[in-house]
Amino acid sequence: MRGRERGPVVAVDGPAGAGKSTVARKMAERLGFLYLDSGAMYRALALKALQHGIDLRDESQIVDLLRSSQIDLVGNGRHQPTVWLDGEDVTHLLRTPEVNASVSLVAGFPLIREEMVRRQRVLACAGRVVMDGRDIGTYVLPDADVKFYLTASLEARAKRRLNDLKAMGFHLDLEVLGEEIRHRDALDASREVGPLRQAEDAILIDTTDMEVDCVVEMMVDNFRRRVS
Ligand code: CDP
Repeated sequence: MRGRERGPVVAVDGPAGAGKSTVARKMAERLGFLYLDSGAMYRALALKALQHGIDLRDESQIVDLLRSSQIDLVGNGRHQPTVWLDGEDVTHLLRTPEVNASVSLVAGFPLIREEMVRRQRVLACAGRVVMDGRDIGTYVLPDADVKFYLTASLEARAKRRLNDLKAMGFHLDLEVLGEEIRHRDALDASREVGPLRQAEDAILIDTTDMEVDCVVEMMVDNFRRRVS
């Protein structure tokens, strides 16, 4: 996929709360690219499974559910992207504690990942995209022109998530949230297919003490130096 036939592709990976979605979206806005939040696709599927009362350990039922589901991501980076599930805007339902607690189970099934990755590659095939997730630089788009791996201390990530949830009206305990993030990271990093891992050629950025705009600036600068 490299170079000529398609526009540039940027991959952004990292653990929960490292700030990927915010900076990936802002970077897409700066470059005039499409922003594709791969995690939102797994979240939409987890939401649908919860809504249908499906046993989250039952891979075949969840695969059937995914095959009959239409998930559309609409976002040019300027605003929070809209996620459509079977024609319904579910954006505001994707980051609840229930979905947070279920999504990594759903995302752990090999057949689910196979189908999601297929869809993600189709979405990115024309290029001029920034896609964020866990396995984008290692597996979904290994030929991405620039890859970033964002991380931050567990405490910083838990605090950010606490603020996100507070803004949505959920009041959680910082320690409980830290434990949940640690658990989700462990599930994401230990699965056999598409685990959370830094690609060898990814640029590592520790965002613990960095302002969002500074991270974006650093990423855009790296992109411009590598892709001219
Ligand atoms: O925003 P946050 O980093 O908390 O998570 P997200 O990017 O919305 O992803 C939610 C979950 O989806 C992750 O914890 C993974 O279990 C799964 N995911 C994945 O398996 N592969 C991806 N490319 C993206 C997300």
